[in-house]
Amino acid sequence: MNETALSPRAATTLEVLRGRRTVHDFLPERVDGALVERAIEAARWAPNHHRTEPWRFYLLGDLARSQLIARNTQLVKDEKGERAAEVKRARWEAVPGWLLMTCLRSEDPFREREDYAACCCAAQNMMLALWAEGVGCKWTTGGITRDPELFHLLGLHAAREFVVGLFWYGRPVEVLEQQRRPLSQVLSRIE
Ligand SMILES: Cc1cc2nc3c(=O)[nH]c(=O)nc-3n(C[C@H](O)[C@H](O)[C@H](O)COP(=O)(O)O)c2cc1C
Repeated sequence: MNETALSPRAATTLEVLRGRRTVHDFLPERVDGALVERAIEAARWAPNHHRTEPWRFYLLGDLARSQLIARNTQLVKDEKGERAAEVKRARWEAVPGWLLMTCLRSEDPFREREDYAACCCAAQNMMLALWAEGVGCKWTTGGITRDPELFHLLGLHAAREFVVGLFWYGRPVEVLEQQRRPLSQVLSRIE
């Protein structure tokens, strides 16, 4: 792709879009709260039909994290045994930043689907804003995010909102390579 004609602004934007990768291992340092708030602020500018602004963000402190870690350790222990559970516990305890994003429920299924789409746009905004400042993310929809107990532990109401994802964030230990299939496989032109 010839990028020589790109403006510096466009080039920087595309570099962030293409360069963002899911991060699995984080350095132990916590991320500055103002930086995280900037990313959440940017998330809110995502497109959202009827301007429902259906997203809700929950920054999880030490108590909430430890409760989710304990619950997840129990879930893994029940399914895979003590050893696997302890490995998971250690990995989760090493994650420096925790944010839960939810989407408000709607009585209209189509509205709810559109609201979920808007939340996904907001999630990407947030991850890109973090990435632009050197902070990586992992969007997870693992078992804990679908566990009804999560709502109870965090004082949320499943009748009001559902989980879009749990976002772990922090400075990356490494940035893994990713591939995408060729554009020609996903792009068609219809005359
Ligand atoms: C809705 C959603 C849920 C995801 N859940 C998980 C997850 O539970 N565990 C995980 O390792 N990655 C999860 N991911 C991250 C994807 O695995 C990742 O985006 C994919 O491998 C592409 O890598 P990239 O983000 O570096 O481009 C999720 C991504 C999305 C959009």
